[in-house]
Amino acid sequence: MVFTVSSWHRQVRLNEDTDVMFVQLCFKRCSVRALLHNVVQQPATETSTFSIFGRFPGARKQTSQSDMSKERRVLQYVLQTASRGDPDSVLAAVDKYGREKEWNMSVGDEKGAILDRFVKERAPQTMLELGTYMGYSAVRMVRLLPQGAKFITVEVNQDNAAVAKEIIAFAGLQDRIIQVLAETAEVIPQLKSKFNVESFDMVFIDHWKDFYLRDIKLLEQNKLLRKGTVVVADNIIFPGAPDYADYVRTCGKYESTFHEGKINGKKPDGMEKSVYRG
Ligand SMILES: C[S@@+](CC[C@H](N)C(=O)[O-])C[C@H]1O[C@@H](n2cnc3c(N)ncnc32)[C@H](O)[C@@H]1O
Repeated sequence: MVFTVSSWHRQVRLNEDTDVMFVQLCFKRCSVRALLHNVVQQPATETSTFSIFGRFPGARKQTSQSDMSKERRVLQYVLQTASRGDPDSVLAAVDKYGREKEWNMSVGDEKGAILDRFVKERAPQTMLELGTYMGYSAVRMVRLLPQGAKFITVEVNQDNAAVAKEIIAFAGLQDRIIQVLAETAEVIPQLKSKFNVESFDMVFIDHWKDFYLRDIKLLEQNKLLRKGTVVVADNIIFPGAPDYADYVRTCGKYESTFHEGKINGKKPDGMEKSVYRG
């Protein structure tokens, strides 16, 4: 039998023999980093996916519905109910599944509408997302980007990245999204050289909340932000990123505003929009 242990921050699958030490290790922040050695850059494939693990995506084979991860069940629902090549129908299917069947940590339609407004206002030519998950927000944002815009999304979890790859392809956006399978702190310093970006017009931060502050500082240090870059961070209230919110509001480098939006129409949350002063 296979169990899934999860919290907002972590999800780990284990069998009955898995010992407690292993689970504890998996739930420590450093465990992810321990997996990352031998940085290997793969050449671009037709699906524009890159991996620092040396292979991508290689998700586990799952046979029955009960053996599937929640993310695979969402994917199956999308494939069965949405229309191929129609990003809006893909978003609607993920939202419907989340509302009616099982909640998932995609940004969702209420905060997604706020994100849509920010993307339309900024019309970025270069955009970075930290935390792809199943590709919902990537599909959401890329459908609104000007043609020719470069969109890079980073995800450390191989299974999530594999699901995202299928959802993005089903939405017909595989040629417009560069998926990177990596830990953000590993890849941020390599973005200029490996992906030929000077700086980003917009950044969406939506990975684990205790990495927000570390990673915005890394983006600054690597000169990936410029005057007018719009940095949007999700989950400012729940589960919350207080050190990040405090930094962008008080450090003087950003013009920062909070935008309220609920999770699944119920739980109070919101996004911080911070415009870099340069
Ligand atoms: C809240 S979900 C992202 C949701 C997605 N942006 C959406 O709205 O559709 C967070 C994702 O960030 C990934 N993640 C967490 N820490 C990361 C890190 N340091 N580097 C890369 N990905 C990370 C997790 O594996 C998870 O899939």
